[in-house]
Amino acid sequence: MSFLQLDHVSKHFGGLTVVDGVSLSADKGEFVVFVGPSGCGKSTLLRMIAGLEEISAGDVSIDGRVVTGVAPADRNVSMVFQSYALYPHMSVRENIAFGLKMAKTPKDQIETRIADAARILQIETLLDRKPRQLSGGQRQRVAIGRAIVRNPKLFLFDEPLSNLDAELRTQMRVEIAKLHRELGATMVYVTHDQIEAMTLADRIVVLRAGRVEQIGTPTELYDTPSSIFVAGFIGSPKMNFLAATITGQDSNGLRVGHPAFAGGEIHVRPTTNRPAPVGSAVTVGLRPEHLTLGGADPLLTLTVDFAENLGGATQLYATGPGGAAVVLMVPGRPPVTPGEVLAASLGAGQIHLFDGSGAAL
Ligand SMILES: Nc1ncnc2c1ncn2[C@@H]1O[C@H](COP(=O)(O)OP(=O)(O)OP(=O)(O)O)[C@@H](O)[C@H]1O
Ligand SMILES: [Mg+2]
Repeated sequence: MSFLQLDHVSKHFGGLTVVDGVSLSADKGEFVVFVGPSGCGKSTLLRMIAGLEEISAGDVSIDGRVVTGVAPADRNVSMVFQSYALYPHMSVRENIAFGLKMAKTPKDQIETRIADAARILQIETLLDRKPRQLSGGQRQRVAIGRAIVRNPKLFLFDEPLSNLDAELRTQMRVEIAKLHRELGATMVYVTHDQIEAMTLADRIVVLRAGRVEQIGTPTELYDTPSSIFVAGFIGSPKMNFLAATITGQDSNGLRVGHPAFAGGEIHVRPTTNRPAPVGSAVTVGLRPEHLTLGGADPLLTLTVDFAENLGGATQLYATGPGGAAVVLMVPGRPPVTPGEVLAASLGAGQIHLFDGSGAAL
């Protein structure tokens, strides 16, 4: 049995269903990341796991015990919120100790646990400060410290880094990965950040309108998204989508037509057994980082709209015949000018194909 298990969990607010029959599991020590658009139910799901929100239907079990109906304090779960919610009048030490004092933990144990957490989070020198005397990143460490000292079986993080600037975010992301390794605890982590999801997760759960759209390792979701939705959500810059048509099928796979393709069509080998009748509308997906400039047998002909120099790489915005908008992420600073016509080839990546319903073909 998995360490954390959700069986057909739903949440209704009045007549509104915001989480709709979600089933998923996490093994002991696993790092699971929830991603999905705003309002898709990520926080609600976390809060139901924590016991802060009543479950309308279904069951949650933690470490083999059904906790539906068990009070939050008795679930052995710690949650870290986006707003650190530290008590402003208490010192860092008192903030971290607060939950333990409430649980009537012996004083010497509180001291030991605070010392351990402070060492792990490198906040030993800050223990006597008040929250207002801390930077955002330091406050976030204190909030995590408060979760650590309770020695929970399960950590829940709801966008813990979203209030930090880019540099601190990167630093804290590495800290959280280290923390996970050091504690070996099971973690469920909500984020909007592509890089956090890809780098921290053992598995990513993509949620859409209260339902699970796809669950997989970061590599699985990146390489074989099961739908346009997942394809567009995982990866940055976003995958390019071209509205195309199935023109035939032969021993090389499906023939897919679009005026931007060299010769008007390309071959794509389907990865599923879904039907793709001739004449049906499909979407071709190409990742910006998989397209290269030039090539002996180019895939696309494009006109450059503008180029963004990112230092080590260049992001090109281009348009193809038939109004296909295509973004390319290419290394270095190729000497291209707006209005220039370019050939682009597909490098190491693959061509993704989706049917009219958005499912991968
Ligand atoms: N107490 C409530 N009463 C009514 N609707 C609610 C309540 N709490 C949340 N919702 C609704 O439930 C849906 C899911 O909310 P939730 O906070 O879980 O989304 P989220 O995925 O965490 O979004 P975000 O990325 O913006 O944080 C939203 O449409 C929200 O408006
Ligand atoms: Mg949320």
